[in-house]
Amino acid sequence: MPQQFHFHDLVISLHPEVYDPAEDSFLLLESLMISPKDTILELGTGCGLIALACAFQGATVVCTDINPYAVQLTRQNIEKNSHLLKGVITVRQGDLFSMVKNSERFNLILFNPPYLPTKKNERTDTWFNVATDGGPTGLRLTKQFLHGLRQHLQPDGAGYFIFSSLSNRILLEKYLKKEQLSSTILTTKRYDGEDLDVYRVTPTASNQQKELRSPTEARTT
Ligand SMILES: C[S@@+](CC[C@H](N)C(=O)[O-])C[C@H]1O[C@@H](n2cnc3c(N)ncnc32)[C@H](O)[C@@H]1O
Repeated sequence: MPQQFHFHDLVISLHPEVYDPAEDSFLLLESLMISPKDTILELGTGCGLIALACAFQGATVVCTDINPYAVQLTRQNIEKNSHLLKGVITVRQGDLFSMVKNSERFNLILFNPPYLPTKKNERTDTWFNVATDGGPTGLRLTKQFLHGLRQHLQPDGAGYFIFSSLSNRILLEKYLKKEQLSSTILTTKRYDGEDLDVYRVTPTASNQQKELRSPTEARTT
């Protein structure tokens, strides 16, 4: 890939220590319908492409990454494209939801996670590994994402994430059930013998009702 590329009017710079947007990034982006009213959290933003594309549409975005090069690059990309962004982006460095206050709520939470199933001897001490390594099942980060989702979603909010057929779908379904999340597959595309799905997940209705009940109602049921 060149060191920068164009996405519509945006000019996005790349960095050797940061994940280059690929099929998964564009698939997730194309599955979203962004409006200026949206308040979005993007975890693992990489070069910031998805966050910038959302702010280009006017959304308010918080994005995070554990990789300091990614955070720095995203800040540079925001600066370079600031004249095109109708919404505001805040960038934070840290592990998944750790940089998000307990009280912060979003109507969309997005994650293109590291999802490749790996064995111990395949792992390397590099930022590329951090961006791609999903642990033995491919779902190490996805599991944590699903666990933290409910806490940070507005009542009508939804989470969107990429799932690869190289990882374990039965285990994913187990995690969704455990977290009481309903799911829909929005898009599936085949790349080099691997299917990539975009999942949309929402807290199950029964759970939302529980959360919406007043303390009095909750006591009487
Ligand atoms: C597959 S890349 C996706 C990058 C970008 N969102 C995209 O779609 O092009 C995964 C990203 O998640 C970040 N990441 C990995 N583990 C993380 C963690 N525990 N907390 C936050 N970000 C993490 C990586 O640094 C990387 O930027």
